[in-house]
Amino acid sequence: MKFKKKILGIGAGYVGAPSMVMIASKCPDYKVTVVDINPERIAAWNSDRLPVYEPGLDAIVRKTRGRNLFFSTDVEAQIQENDIIFVCVNTPTKTFGAGAGMAADLQYWEKTARQILENSKTSKIVIEKSTLPIKTAQAMERILSSGKKNVTFDVLSNPEFMAEGTAVNDLENPDRVLIGSRETKSGLAARAALVEIYTRWLPREKIITSNIWSAELSKLVANAFLAQRVSSINSISALCEKADADISEVAHAVGTDSRIGAKFLKAGIGFGGSCFKKDILNLVYLCRFYGLPEVAAYWESVVRINEYQQDRFIANILRSMFNTLAGKKICVLGFAFKADTGDTRESPAIHITRKLLAEHAEVVISDPQALANAAADLAHEKGKISYVEDPYRAAAGCHALAVMTDWEAYRKLDYRKIYKSMVKPAFLFDGRNIVDHRKCFEIGFNVFPIGKPALTRF
Ligand SMILES: NC(=O)c1ccc[n+]([C@@H]2O[C@H](COP(=O)([O-])OP(=O)(O)OC[C@H]3O[C@@H](n4cnc5c(N)ncnc54)[C@H](O)[C@@H]3O)[C@@H](O)[C@H]2O)c1
Repeated sequence: MKFKKKILGIGAGYVGAPSMVMIASKCPDYKVTVVDINPERIAAWNSDRLPVYEPGLDAIVRKTRGRNLFFSTDVEAQIQENDIIFVCVNTPTKTFGAGAGMAADLQYWEKTARQILENSKTSKIVIEKSTLPIKTAQAMERILSSGKKNVTFDVLSNPEFMAEGTAVNDLENPDRVLIGSRETKSGLAARAALVEIYTRWLPREKIITSNIWSAELSKLVANAFLAQRVSSINSISALCEKADADISEVAHAVGTDSRIGAKFLKAGIGFGGSCFKKDILNLVYLCRFYGLPEVAAYWESVVRINEYQQDRFIANILRSMFNTLAGKKICVLGFAFKADTGDTRESPAIHITRKLLAEHAEVVISDPQALANAAADLAHEKGKISYVEDPYRAAAGCHALAVMTDWEAYRKLDYRKIYKSMVKPAFLFDGRNIVDHRKCFEIGFNVFPIGKPALTRF
């Protein structure tokens, strides 16, 4: 079959693969290929057990794979063959050298830029889908223009706003798609080519076009604003616990103001995931780089409050359980950083489990999707850890439950049955405020929500 366009995604991770899958699904006349340097990941995308758990994704992959969607490890050949290239490689926080712990590590991204240059025999549109520091497109343009003169490259910024757990819906029906380009003749033509792809399934009004630096920066700012709401409500949850107010009531009263809005106002043990912390630290680094220390300090406090909230949670467990956890069994309910994903990157559960182990508690971890990732995260930890998918078996014989992930299934567990199987007095620390606290108290638990008065018998 002759395809109308050929599109390549480099990086078959949580963002690259689902976003390319969506293009393949909506544009059956385009050939879409996803490449990765990790052969296991590509093998998994070509298998029945996809490497990413995302509700609804496997059905779309089944429908498109082999038809107009292909997964491959042959990065170089695919660069040659495709004229529109989405770069979706990872951009983690740097762990070494200048900017360690703050700046984005651009080594994967730069390697890709060089590979594109080396393997291009025809002109290409190169699209930044990874989240990158502002002005990265300029560096990419410099690398790409350092080669042969007969091949030209247009660099676009098209940051991805999808969230894990709701990726399919977010990609199919996004609030907006953002495309930044140079405002030159060829930049605007490249922009139009990308707009054309998205308008295959989205109304034109949902596609925002802008200058390239605004697009790069908007992604960092969007994540910073989302995380900032979480830290704002979490900071107030600490005050509620001191002053007998209820954070859910406060969030409702505040969030019904249409200027504020209700979303992202749920108190809990804090945000996790691969993006929020990394992107805010990247923003903080950029602000310092551009000589704006006050702006940097403002955004850095969002990360500090997130850490404070997790430390508060652990301190509360220790204090409530008579200041010793040594030899006690704690059931960690949920390890994914949020519901409907198996992703555990930067999950608060990692930090909290480490603290429990440091107190010599025995930890039993339960999660419907994230146990393999949890075991990898904790592989080097000393202490007693076990992994039990079934929450009832995980909780049996434990002194406390600590709810870490807002899985829907945890709302509906038979807490009476669980209570019966636990050591008494039994404790329930609800790090996501999803359990029926009053009911669990009546069953017999000592209940410690976030930002609400504890329900205890002591
Ligand atoms: N995960 C999210 O929810 C999310 C949302 C929006 C944006 N982002 C951004 O998207 C980017 C990717 O994130 P992710 O979560 O998909 O990361 P990921 O680690 O899951 O995937 C990145 C993939 O790129 C591959 N890769 C690295 N270098 C390569 C190269 N030279 N050639 C081919 N493949 C290469 C890696 O092997 C890996 O499989 C990041 O910049 C991230 O900030 C992520």
